[in-house]
Amino acid sequence: MSATRRLGVGVLGAHAWAEHAHLPGFAAYERCRRVAICDVVPERARALAERFGFERVYADAREMLADPEVEMVDVCTPTGTHRELAGAALAAGRHVLCEKPLALSAADAFGLARLAAEKGLRTKVGFTFRYSAALKQVKRWIEDGTIGEIFHVHGFQQNSQFLDPNFPLRQYDTEDPDGPLVPASIVGYGSHLVDLLRWLAGDFRAVSALMRNFVPERMVRGKEGLRRVPIDDGTVAAVDFRSGAQGVIQTSFIAIGNYPGIEIRIYGSKVAVVARLVTEFGVAETLHLARAGEVEFRPVELSADRYPPGTDVRTPWRELYYRQLARDWTDEILDEGPAENTFLDGAMSQQMVDAVVLSHRERRWVDLSEMPS
Ligand SMILES: NC(=O)c1ccc[n+]([C@@H]2O[C@H](COP(=O)([O-])OP(=O)(O)OC[C@H]3O[C@@H](n4cnc5c(N)ncnc54)[C@H](O)[C@@H]3O)[C@@H](O)[C@H]2O)c1
Repeated sequence: MSATRRLGVGVLGAHAWAEHAHLPGFAAYERCRRVAICDVVPERARALAERFGFERVYADAREMLADPEVEMVDVCTPTGTHRELAGAALAAGRHVLCEKPLALSAADAFGLARLAAEKGLRTKVGFTFRYSAALKQVKRWIEDGTIGEIFHVHGFQQNSQFLDPNFPLRQYDTEDPDGPLVPASIVGYGSHLVDLLRWLAGDFRAVSALMRNFVPERMVRGKEGLRRVPIDDGTVAAVDFRSGAQGVIQTSFIAIGNYPGIEIRIYGSKVAVVARLVTEFGVAETLHLARAGEVEFRPVELSADRYPPGTDVRTPWRELYYRQLARDWTDEILDEGPAENTFLDGAMSQQMVDAVVLSHRERRWVDLSEMPS
């Protein structure tokens, strides 16, 4: 394939996440041709197209999907629209990047993965943190045997985004304030976390989880005043991996700390590692390593070539990780490289999230083989 060929990119959704993550990523990579942005609020699409150098705008997804110069469709719209828009893009024969979660049920997410396979199209999920230089290094250390047999895997995604009840909640609501707990931190944060744990330490066998609501009344985006919203703002789970490794997961909307609030610890037979993706004093992430014979954790500095050109560990995390995602994804399509982080991975993540919720509701261990696939 020609080194000068560029990938025609079309983005659906022109709001906060597109502005801070996706669009800077495509704009910074010379192998992306910025063809179109579409938003049902056309002035948003126009403003961001102008700012990030996209050629044209649409207000209707169907029109953008019919544009022959859009080869890859990026779905960056609200969660409830993902399945329909990603499905329509696949049906139109386009490769698709879709924000997580792919659908409102794991069964629908598996359906999208099957559709992509039938069509022979490539897919990618917005699992932002797979594109962290620190976590890519951890993955390498697992694959090359540096870490040895994995014993314990701890995955946390916790920050205090929703500690203040006046900070408006979005995407989660309920008409029944006394009804069952609405899965929230385990969906919004947990979908990333379970994907990272599966990517690093392999498939899950079973899970036992506890979800809880700590802040009973909150503001909800678009609604007046404080109202009772029984979301899970904290979830903790014990995880049994197929390999025999033991895992601990915690997601929290209210644990004090900064964005994005990911911490992964892996304790192996030879080496233990701690990767913290928590922006502190301008630094996006840190990586520490200890060896069996030298048990104090030491910082690991990664070389400049581990970060996308023009970035370093001080680049704001949204842009840092999406610039890497945009490069990896574009190269995968143009160079026909191995598929990674596909819709099947998105569906497997969703299956585990559903298993966590079922485990909590039925107060028991749930085996992943019980879950729809
Ligand atoms: N991967 C991550 O780390 C991460 C972080 C933040 C948000 N997200 C996800 O990214 C997505 C977008 O987040 P956001 O905060 O920008 O959402 P948002 O609701 O602020 O913006 C979504 C935009 O999509 C537009 N839109 C809605 N339906 C559309 C349609 N049918 N066609 C075209 N445009 C349409 C809306 O008008 C709006 O401008 C969400 O699914 C969110 O969960 C992912």
